[in-house]
Amino acid sequence: MTSDESEHRGNRNDTLLARHPSPITRHQLPIGVFDSGVGGLTVLRALRQQLPHESFIYLGDTARLPYGTKSAESVVRYSVQAASYLVACGVKYLVVACNTASSVALAPLRERFAPLPVVGVIEPGAQAACDSSRSGHIAVIATEGTIRGGAYQREIASRAAHTKVVVQACSLFVALAEEGWTEGEIVQATAQRYLGEVLASDREIDTLLLGCTHFPVLRRTLESVVGPKIKIVDSAATTAAFLAADLPARALAASGSGLGSIRMLATDSAERFARVGSLFLSEPVSADRVELIDLATRPLS
Ligand code: DGL
Repeated sequence: MTSDESEHRGNRNDTLLARHPSPITRHQLPIGVFDSGVGGLTVLRALRQQLPHESFIYLGDTARLPYGTKSAESVVRYSVQAASYLVACGVKYLVVACNTASSVALAPLRERFAPLPVVGVIEPGAQAACDSSRSGHIAVIATEGTIRGGAYQREIASRAAHTKVVVQACSLFVALAEEGWTEGEIVQATAQRYLGEVLASDREIDTLLLGCTHFPVLRRTLESVVGPKIKIVDSAATTAAFLAADLPARALAASGSGLGSIRMLATDSAERFARVGSLFLSEPVSADRVELIDLATRPLS
């Protein structure tokens, strides 16, 4: 924890509880979701599919993307700032829709914002991979930060001790996905370069886990590179399924039968967020709907 964070720990839990409405109305609050950019919209899409009556506030820290090449200390600081903003908006649940942030910031976020429930995407992703693999040989691709932190390796080992996990950092995939380049020669060659050696190193791999929320938009290209014998899984659907069970268990499920709303926040370029975000969310996002916010100069709540 940085000195910046510990300074603000104080009576945080009391402050949060005072700010939140009573438990009777808390279930009507939106769910806060954040990522370093638009990648987390692949998780939001799954959340919307499984929880259509819930409302969401999505925050993409586009000004500071990528998180995947930054130090753990910076990622924790950025994550606390993003989460503080969402908490100040009033949310009932926090989804860390970024593997890099989930791998290093989950514990500090849970501690800081308790009793607010906080879920990351690493545990659901590891579960999805273990559920999929028959051979017990799994390849995980993610950002440099996620791979370095070893969170997937630990989570998979804790579920299936004898599983063999091969990991590969694929930092360029983030830039390609943010550029909207999901198919074609360049993506194909990049995928071949990253995955060729990994797959050749273990012929028994039957599952490829996309350990970065930016990667699902590259799925078609990845499928063509790995071939039909390897199943590709990601954490979006399992994270949504986890919330679908956990919200009612905590008496936090939205009541009512109408469609929930989405509020979108970004820290840089509403136009770019909308353009690329449409691809990740699989529905049009209009730049007018994207609110620009500044996290870097905002005091922590
Ligand atoms: N979407 C982030 C993740 O899931 C990575 C992108 C980045 O490097 O910021 O890890």
